[in-house]
Amino acid sequence: MAPARLLIQNNMTLTAWVNGRFLPLAQATVHIEDRGFQFADGIYEVIACFGGVFLDLPAHLSRLQYSLDALQIPLPLPFPALTALLHEAYRRNPFDHAMLYIQITRGVAPRSHRIEQPLTPTMVITVRELPEPSEQQLAQGASAITRADIRWQRCDIKSIALLANVLGKQQAVQAGVDECFWRDDQDYMLEGCSSNALAVINGVLVTHPLGHQLLGGIARQMTLRLAARHAIACEERAWRLDETGLSECMMSSTTEAVMPVCHIDGQAIGNGKPGPISMMLRQWMLDEFSALRQQKEQS
Ligand code: PDD
Repeated sequence: MAPARLLIQNNMTLTAWVNGRFLPLAQATVHIEDRGFQFADGIYEVIACFGGVFLDLPAHLSRLQYSLDALQIPLPLPFPALTALLHEAYRRNPFDHAMLYIQITRGVAPRSHRIEQPLTPTMVITVRELPEPSEQQLAQGASAITRADIRWQRCDIKSIALLANVLGKQQAVQAGVDECFWRDDQDYMLEGCSSNALAVINGVLVTHPLGHQLLGGIARQMTLRLAARHAIACEERAWRLDETGLSECMMSSTTEAVMPVCHIDGQAIGNGKPGPISMMLRQWMLDEFSALRQQKEQS
C-alpha cells in the first residue's frame, strides 16, 4: 500500500455529517440529551476507504444492521442512501486513505432509562486519515499486554459503550505497548481493545470462534479468507498463549489490517520478530486493497 496521502493540506476544514447535513467539524454537534451521550445507547462502524473504494462495505453494512437490530434502533436511512452519503462524506474530506466513522444513537429524549418511542435516531459520520505504521513499527512488530476480560457479555454488538476497551488500551499505553488483549477466565485469548487476535499454532492460523465474547471483525474475516485462499489451514477455536507450537501472534482490524504482535506480557512470541505467515497475510491484504482500487480506476 502506498503511504496514506493527504489530498489537500491539513488546514482544510474537515466536514462531518450530523443529523441531515454536512457541517464543518467544529460546528457538528449533538444535543446534550442525546442517549448516546447519556447512556452510550448507540452503535458504530469504522470503514476503510482507499481512493474512493470502500473496503468490504456490504459486510460493514450488515454488521451495522446486526448491531442496530440488537438494540432495536431503526436504520435511519436505507443502505443505498447511506452508501451515497458515505461516498459524499469521503469526497468532502481531504484524505486519500481514509477511515469513515458512522455512529447511530437512539436519539434525543429527557434522561430516563426507559426508552420512549418513537425517537428519531441521531446519525453522525466523520472522516479521518487512515493511520499507517512506520517501517520501523512494521520491522519490530507490535506488542501487547493481556488482561482478564472486564467487558459486558455482548461484545458481538459494535456498541459505543467502550469504557472497558478505553481503560484496557490506556493500560497498554502506560505499559508502553500497542494493544491489550482480553483473556477469558480460563486464559483463552478473546480479542484486543480495538482488534481481533489471531495466532499461528503448529502452522495453523487460529482465532477464537465468533460469539458474544468478541466482535466479528471484518478484517478477521478477510484474514481467514485470504489464509484459506493461500492454502493456510485455519481453525476457529479457543486458544491460549502457552500452547506448544505457538509461533506467531497477530491482530487484525480495519485500521491496521493485519499486524504482527511480537511481544506479549513482556515475552517474545517465536523469535520476537514478525513471523512469515503474519507478514504474508498483511501483504495479501494490502494487495487486495490495491487490486480493488485498480479495478475502480479501470472501470
Ligand atoms: N475497532 N474487536 C474490537 C473490540 C474492535 O473495536 C475492533 C475494531 C475489532 C476489529 O474489527 P474490524 O476488523 O471490523 O475493524 C475487533 C475499530 C477499528 C474501532 O473501534 O475504531
